[in-house]
Amino acid sequence: MTDMTTTTVAQAAPVLTATGVTMRFGGLTAVRSVDLDVHPGEIVGLIGPNGAGKTTFFNCLTGLYVPTEGRVAYRGTVLPPKPHLVTQAGIARTFQNIRLFANMTVLENVLVGRHTRTKEGLWSALLRGPGFKRAEAASKARAMELLEFTGLAAKADHLSRNLPYGEQRKLEIARALASDPGLLLLDEPTAGMNPQETRATEELVFAIRDTGTAVLVIEHDMRFIFNLCDRVAVLVQGEKLVEGSSDVVQSDERVIAAYLGTPFEGEPGAEEAAAVEAAEARTEEDGQ
Ligand SMILES: Nc1ncnc2c1ncn2[C@@H]1O[C@H](COP(=O)(O)OP(=O)(O)O)[C@@H](O)[C@H]1O
Ligand SMILES: [Mg+2]
Repeated sequence: MTDMTTTTVAQAAPVLTATGVTMRFGGLTAVRSVDLDVHPGEIVGLIGPNGAGKTTFFNCLTGLYVPTEGRVAYRGTVLPPKPHLVTQAGIARTFQNIRLFANMTVLENVLVGRHTRTKEGLWSALLRGPGFKRAEAASKARAMELLEFTGLAAKADHLSRNLPYGEQRKLEIARALASDPGLLLLDEPTAGMNPQETRATEELVFAIRDTGTAVLVIEHDMRFIFNLCDRVAVLVQGEKLVEGSSDVVQSDERVIAAYLGTPFEGEPGAEEAAAVEAAEARTEEDGQ
C-alpha cells in the first residue's frame, strides 16, 4: 500500500488495489502497468476496444494468470495468484463465455459456488454426517435466497442447459454471489442480450451494489456502462488511457478516437446490424 497518493482522503479504503499490473505473453504486452482501485459501494466500468487487455487484466486480478509485474491487493492484503484463494479472500467473477455445469440443476450450480464458504470437508460430504447435513441445509437456504434475488427461484430444479441465454447469464452471477464476495467482477455480462435483458442486468447490478458488494464490470455496451458506473477506466492496447466519471470519459476525445479507430470485431449485435443494413440497402434497390 505505497501508492495512496491518488486516493482522496474522504473515500473509504479500497476493496481492490491493483498496482502496476503488467502481463506479457512472449513478445506481446497485453496489459501494461495498470493501476486501478475499486472502493466499497462503487460500480466501476472497464472499457476498451477488442483486444485491449480487459479480460487479461481480470485474469490477473483473479489469480488465473500470474502477472509479469505488479500486484493485486484485496482490502489491503496482497493476493496470492491462485483462483480459489482469491475467491476465498472475497473476489468472485463471471466469464466472458458462459461457464455453467450444463447438466446440473440451477440450484446445484449455485451450491457449487457456495463451497468456498462451507467448512465441511470432502469426507464429511461423502459420508453425509450430521455436520454435513446442517451445512448442506444452510447452503441450500443461502442458494435459494440468491435465486430469489436474481429472479431464478422458480427454475431452481431445471437443468441449467435448458435455461434461455439471458437466464444462464443471471445464473452465473448468482453462482458468483454464492461465495459472498466483497467484489464482483463481471466480464461482458450483457453480451448477446436483448434490450430488456440488458435493462434487467443493469437493475441486478445496482441491487448487488446496494447489498454492499462492489462491482467491476467489462462491457462493450456504452449506454449500459455510462448509465451504470460511478467511474470508468479505458484500456487501449493494454494501457489505461483515461479514468474518470462517466461524463468525463464520454466526452474525452482520446476515448472517442480509440473507439472510432478500432472497429469492434465480434461485437455482439455487429452481425445483426450488418444484416439490417444489407436488408435496408436491398429494400432501397427494390423500391427504385
Ligand atoms: N493466453 C494468452 N496467450 C497469448 N496471448 C493472449 C492470451 N490471452 C490474451 N492474449 C492476447 O492479449 C491481448 C488482449 O486480449 P484480451 O485480454 O482478451 O482483450 P479484451 O478482453 O480487451 O478483448 C490480445 O492481443 C490477445 O490476443
Ligand atoms: Mg475480453
